[in-house]
Amino acid sequence: MSLRKILPALFLLALARAAPNPAPFTPAGGLGTNSTPPVYRPMSDFDFQSMNLALNQEWIELDLFHHGLAQFSVEEFDAAGINADDRFLIEFMADQEVGHATMLTNILGPTAAKPCNYTYPFTTVREFVDFCQKLTRFGESGVYGFLEHLDSRPSAELLLQSITTEARQQMIFRQFEGLFPMPIWFTPGITQSMAWTLLSPYITSCPAENPHIVFQNFPPLNIVNNPSAIPLTNSTCFNESTYPAITHNRSVPLSAPGFQVDLTWEEPGKVTGYNDSYMTNSSAGAPQFVAWISQLNTTYTPLFNINGTSGSTLQPNGTIFGSGSAPVVNGTVFIAVTDSDTFVTPFNLTELNAHIVAGPAMYQSG
Ligand SMILES: *[C@@H]1O[C@H](CO)[C@@H](O)[C@H](O)[C@H]1NC(C)=O
Ligand SMILES: *[C@@H]1O[C@H](CO)[C@@H](O)[C@H](O)[C@H]1NC(C)=O
Ligand SMILES: *[C@@H]1O[C@H](CO)[C@@H](O)[C@H](O)[C@H]1NC(C)=O
Ligand SMILES: *[C@@H]1O[C@H](CO)[C@@H](O)[C@H](O)[C@H]1NC(C)=O
Ligand SMILES: *[C@@H]1O[C@H](CO)[C@@H](O)[C@H](O)[C@H]1NC(C)=O
Ligand SMILES: *[C@@H]1O[C@H](CO)[C@@H](O)[C@H](O)[C@H]1NC(C)=O
Ligand SMILES: *[C@@H]1O[C@H](CO)[C@@H](O)[C@H](O)[C@H]1NC(C)=O
Ligand SMILES: *[C@@H]1O[C@H](CO)[C@@H](O)[C@H](O)[C@H]1NC(C)=O
Ligand SMILES: *[C@@H]1O[C@H](CO)[C@@H](O)[C@H](O)[C@H]1NC(C)=O
Ligand SMILES: *[C@@H]1O[C@H](CO)[C@@H](O)[C@H](O)[C@H]1NC(C)=O
Ligand SMILES: *[C@@H]1O[C@H](CO)[C@@H](O)[C@H](O)[C@H]1NC(C)=O
Repeated sequence: MSLRKILPALFLLALARAAPNPAPFTPAGGLGTNSTPPVYRPMSDFDFQSMNLALNQEWIELDLFHHGLAQFSVEEFDAAGINADDRFLIEFMADQEVGHATMLTNILGPTAAKPCNYTYPFTTVREFVDFCQKLTRFGESGVYGFLEHLDSRPSAELLLQSITTEARQQMIFRQFEGLFPMPIWFTPGITQSMAWTLLSPYITSCPAENPHIVFQNFPPLNIVNNPSAIPLTNSTCFNESTYPAITHNRSVPLSAPGFQVDLTWEEPGKVTGYNDSYMTNSSAGAPQFVAWISQLNTTYTPLFNINGTSGSTLQPNGTIFGSGSAPVVNGTVFIAVTDSDTFVTPFNLTELNAHIVAGPAMYQSG
């Protein structure tokens, strides 16, 4: 046997000797499974910035749920099929947000973000519920995108326990909207920059001491003809197929593969964010594709009719694992205009940031 072969073997043997014998009933391996006390603190700037972004998300959710409950009358809620028990559930969700924000503030310490002032794009109960469904979708996906990349495993554990609760909020808002509760097999993650791009338009001003958010603010993307789950008729006219319920088969899907999606977006370099203290930025080249981030997949479709900052694409076909029954695009999914069709998978989605021309925006497919 040559020395080149023996050396690695000796190294492995030394490692095996050095490792303590696993305790009974405890398989070898794993992280943080020994008796060292866990430390619930950011271990890097990456940790601090990621969790502080999540905290900003928790603060807006807390404000949003209270704001919606205060903005509309009992009659307006009742007319939209959101009864007293449902309203109590929304109030309870606000309480959950108090818990989530407290937990993240405890992890981050005295420099953690404080609550801000917000602006909301709804004037009816149905629009409020639709906005909650979308905001909780990017809140949830925004955390899934970085959770597994955190240096602090103990902090990740706590954050996981809050975000699984938020996942239930998202589903309940879909049910309040009369949608199929979970038309996906997998919930996608998005990068922090994507989450920040989606969140920042709704934050108007923050305390001066709030930490500056370092993530990228991509130019906003607008879906001109986004399918809407909100009935065109007002609340007294909606029928049983759009009424709040545990589940509905929609008689008419909101969209289908082949649907033409028309897009407009902004050039980078525009002032944005709370107190106008941020600037949109893109390092991508010319727009060529649309990335559809959904399920486990990032699927690309060609952008056509490109004219400056507008263009169109077609909703993709295809199913997860070729199942034939679970479309890759279903529910509320993320779409972004990109300069290439770079292959990415859920753990290296960050590689997509450099290719984003604009977006993401939230496409409502079903
Ligand atoms: C929120 O808005 C109020 C009323 O405009 C203003 O007085 C306050 O300074 C704002 N707070 C923050 C943190 O921006
Ligand atoms: C944003 O504006 C508010 C209200 O004018 C002010 O109180 C706050 O200090 C400002 N925050 C920042 C980050 O400049
Ligand atoms: C809602 O629809 C009903 C019935 O068509 C109509 O009488 C009512 O004025 C409408 N309300 C609003 C706010 O549009
Ligand atoms: C109920 O709403 C669905 C979806 O908008 C529509 O297709 C259907 O015709 C409506 N049914 C009635 C009875 O109005
Ligand atoms: C609901 O949709 C599924 C899938 O299209 C179908 O198999 C099922 O029969 C539908 N259920 C009802 C009650 O229409
Ligand atoms: C989306 O999922 C729902 C529920 O499984 C299904 O009824 C619908 O057909 C799906 N939409 C598309 C476009 O396949
Ligand atoms: C989507 O794929 C299915 C199965 O391969 C096919 O039957 C259908 O025609 C396709 N639809 C579009 C719009 O391409
Ligand atoms: C985007 O950010 C990069 C790196 O900070 C900077 O060099 C570039 O000028 C920015 N572009 C715009 C349009 O602000
Ligand atoms: C491109 O956009 C410009 C400005 O919006 C418009 O005047 C022009 O007609 C468009 N060109 C085409 C080919 O659609
Ligand atoms: C979606 O991702 C799964 C898992 O990687 C893969 O099996 C499937 O082919 C992908 N579907 C499409 C349409 O890209
Ligand atoms: C992302 O990871 C996949 C493997 O899961 C790899 O094939 C792909 O090249 C990676 N993408 C980039 C841009 O690094």
